[in-house]
Amino acid sequence: MKIAILKETAAGERRVAGTPETVKKFKALGAELVVETGAGAASSIADQAYVDAGATVVGRADAIKGADILLGVQGPDPVSLDGVKTGAWIVAGLNPFGERARVDAYAGLGVDALAMEFMPRITRAQSMDILSSQSNLSGYKAVLDAAGAYDRAFPMMMTAAGTVSAARVFVMGVGVAGLQAIATARRLGAQVSATDVRSATREQIESLGAKAIFVDDVKGIEGEGSGGYATEMSDEYKAAQAALVSSHIAKQDIVITTALIPGRPAPRLISDAQIASMRSGSVIVDLAVEQGGNVEGAVAGEIVERHGVKIVGHKNVPSRIAADASALFSRNLFNFLSAFWDKDAGRPNLPDEDEITKAIRLTHQGKVVNERLLSA
Ligand code: NAI
Repeated sequence: MKIAILKETAAGERRVAGTPETVKKFKALGAELVVETGAGAASSIADQAYVDAGATVVGRADAIKGADILLGVQGPDPVSLDGVKTGAWIVAGLNPFGERARVDAYAGLGVDALAMEFMPRITRAQSMDILSSQSNLSGYKAVLDAAGAYDRAFPMMMTAAGTVSAARVFVMGVGVAGLQAIATARRLGAQVSATDVRSATREQIESLGAKAIFVDDVKGIEGEGSGGYATEMSDEYKAAQAALVSSHIAKQDIVITTALIPGRPAPRLISDAQIASMRSGSVIVDLAVEQGGNVEGAVAGEIVERHGVKIVGHKNVPSRIAADASALFSRNLFNFLSAFWDKDAGRPNLPDEDEITKAIRLTHQGKVVNERLLSA
């Protein structure tokens, strides 16, 4: 049973899908581990640290050859998988909707592609959930990115030269990233408010010491869809939300948007006119920028300025905190594979009928088999 940890090839990707810690854990299960040369370098993990943990460090071709399981943060380019074993598993964040052609290519190679972002949101799978682990760190980093771009302080400070007032931070979308953004902004001493379409978040916002800003006057709205995710809102709700946000946003120094709806473009939450209403020097961080953006004018991979407001649109925010993001991602992969480990066979076994198998398995025996992908 050979597990290969691949070096990421996507531009700007600094994370790695295995760490010396998970190498040791997989070895304890009886697996043989190979790591592609330099795989951990951008996450501050030297090749030697993998060797010390019991892995062999080899070139890409040797890592792939004979591997039963290939671990990646992002899906490896199928053309780089020359010599991959038929029936091998690729376990990574595969962006199945965005990289549909790749999924077909994985089927063509005869490998089982397992998309970790399709992990169902059930209690049993919480420790395997890459979306949660990476969003958590994104929420934290978004606040630090905002603080870095802001030319004022976050906390209130009383100095001999006078008082510096606390920054007002507004978080839009209170899922995993938004909750961490609220907590981080609070720790930095900001005055924090937040909003979401799911009414369940009101209590969570308040329990973190932030103010909940909610549309209360549109009846019959409950923004919670399946699996704890948001649904697309009615036009009436959207108009009420826009009005509420307009009056609130004009008084904010920092806005962090994280709103996503699975399988759809990110909802547009902030218009150019609303940006123009903000004080010069304010900062907006759009964490949804790669899914279409919550903020008008946000550009993926850039910090743009409009009406004196900086709009931060960093791509791949978890990669900006690569060492911790890699550590959590790698544990998610280990937690998944070890939960299905068959001790007698000395390898993991995914039963066809298991809810997790059905959710994450994209390709099997040369075909695309995933219901969610096939029905999209
Ligand atoms: P997400 O990344 O899909 O979306 C981020 C947030 O944006 C969500 O809170 C969503 O309600 C909000 N949003 C969508 N449209 C909006 C709009 N128009 N205006 C304002 N906000 C909008 O969500 P995420 O972070 O993945 O978490 C969603 C839920 O799933 C949370 O309640 C979380 O606690 C739950 N969850 C459950 C897990 C489990 O049971 N295993 C694991 C992880 C999360």
